[in-house]
Order: sequence, then C-alpha cells, then structure tokens
Amino acid sequence: MKRVTKAVFPVAGMGTRFLPATKASPKEMLPIVDKPLIQYAAEEAIAAGINELIFVTGRNKRSIEDHFDRAYELETELKADGKEDLLHVVQNVLPNTASCVYIRQPEALGLGHAVLCAKQVVGEDPFAVILADDLIRGEPGVLKQMTDLYNSHQCSVIGVQKVAREDTRSYGIVKGRGSGDRTYVVEGIVEKPPPDKAPSTLAVVGRYILSSRIFELLERVTPGAGGEIQLTDGIAALLSHEQVLAYEFLGKRYDCGNKYGYLQATVEYALEHPELKKKFHAYLKTLKL
Ligand code: UTP
Repeated sequence: MKRVTKAVFPVAGMGTRFLPATKASPKEMLPIVDKPLIQYAAEEAIAAGINELIFVTGRNKRSIEDHFDRAYELETELKADGKEDLLHVVQNVLPNTASCVYIRQPEALGLGHAVLCAKQVVGEDPFAVILADDLIRGEPGVLKQMTDLYNSHQCSVIGVQKVAREDTRSYGIVKGRGSGDRTYVVEGIVEKPPPDKAPSTLAVVGRYILSSRIFELLERVTPGAGGEIQLTDGIAALLSHEQVLAYEFLGKRYDCGNKYGYLQATVEYALEHPELKKKFHAYLKTLKL
C-alpha cells in the first residue's frame, strides 16, 4: 500500500491581486496575524504525515527559503536576550524530520506547469499539492482527511467545496457521481465554466492528492483558460486512465488569494489568537459599524 509523504507547494504565481504587497515577495508570505500563509500550509501537510516539502518557486523565492531555514543571527540574539519563547518559535517552524526542496518555475505558465516542474523530485510516488492561499481551518486538517481517504481507496483525491452557481467562473468545476461520505467519483472536470455551462457547483479548491501519472499527461496539456497550462486539464486527462475521487472536505476555507478573503481570515484568526482574542474582540465592539 502506498502512502503520501511528499507535498508540492506551488508558490510561483504573480499574485497580481495583492500588488504592490507582492511586488518583491510572494503572496504565500503574507501573514495571517503572525504566521505566513505558507507556514499554515506546511503545518497542515506535516499533520497529514508529509515529510518532504517541495516548493515550486518563482522570481521572488528568497523569503520562503529563508523562512524555512535556520536563522543563526536571530537565534543568537534571542538567546542572548533570554527570549526563550521566541527562540522556540523561530527554531520550530518545521520539525527536524521534514526536509525541504526548492525548484524554480522559470516562467509563471500556470498551475499545471508549476506542478510539472516537480516531476523529477516526486518520481513515481503519489503526492499532495497544496495551494497556500487557500487557507482552510479543519479539525483534523483537510490534507489529513484526504490522505485518510487516499489510504483506503489508493487513487487521486481532489478537495472540493460547494459554491454559489454565479461563482463557477472562478473555479475548476467537477461533474461527479455521489458515492457517500462526502465523496464523489469524478466523471468530468472543467476550468472556470460560466454558470449555465457548469456541470455542478462542486468547486475544486487548493488541495489535491495526485497519482504520478499526472506528469505525463501535463506534458501534453496545451495552454487553456487564461492562456495557462491548467492542472484541471491534466486531471481531466487522468480520468480516462484512473479513478479520481472528489472529496467535500470538512472545514472553513478562506480564499486568501483575494483581499476580501484575506481580511476575513485575519479577523477570524485574530479572534482565536490566545494573546489577542480578548483585546481584539473588545476593540471590534468599539467600532461603530
Ligand atoms: P493563482 O491562480 O491564484 O494566481 O494561482 P496568482 O498568479 O498567484 O495570483 P493572481 O491571480 O495574479 O492574483 C494559484 C496558485 O498557483 C501558483 C500560485 O503561486 C498560487 O499558489 N502558481 C500559479 C504557480 O506556482 N505558478 C503559476 O504559473 C501560476
């Protein structure tokens, strides 16, 4: 039986919806309260049993590599100042058992292309793909829910969520046959259909477990919606070879790729933050909205 131990984090997008914040730094480094989005994603992966983190980076890669690297000067200063709590935070961004690999996507040619860049490192193994700008609060974490499903079915699993029909144009949409337990056998998948053409309202969001066959199929994908090499088109091709399941995960998703979703996440995570929640709640009450 195969297990999922590798996760690909595509972090090479342009992040144009967050300019100028993303001019020199990837959007995945935007913090929600005090942690960058990419760290939430890495923690979700680790909680699902992943121990190899593969980042597909673009032109502004430095900050992500630095974030997951040791920070000797900072650690020395914190130690000298007796700031043990902060030292612990800085030293435990990732557990020692996890390893990181960085791959460059030379041009932002689309999510499918970014995933294809990880081909050599992933090899023959099944692997997860996590889009850090889809922040999902779930207990257990969404990727853990999906690896459990993978372990019992041994086939690709894509995370989906029901959306309003007028919003189908923003997502890959799945045509699926319900097979119980929030799970659907995928019969078709289409990128960004208009509401009247959408086969359902089950939208693909940023969590996938994929079989390595996806790579040979992605190599044949030609640019689709938006002129990009779409992961959705690779998954559509996979359907003629293997079973793919869609899983309606349990959890609340914040689309942190846009400002509105990002602000919602910031407010809700702040209201749960142990140091801030009381003060922040009291502050929100003083606002005359
Ligand atoms: P998005 O569709 O959100 O695109 O990518 P974007 O470029 O990051 O953001 P906007 O639309 O310009 O604001 C979804 C995910 O795929 C990654 C992004 O980093 C993001 O995590 N991606 C996208 C790549 O790694 N490479 C690409 O060529 C495109």
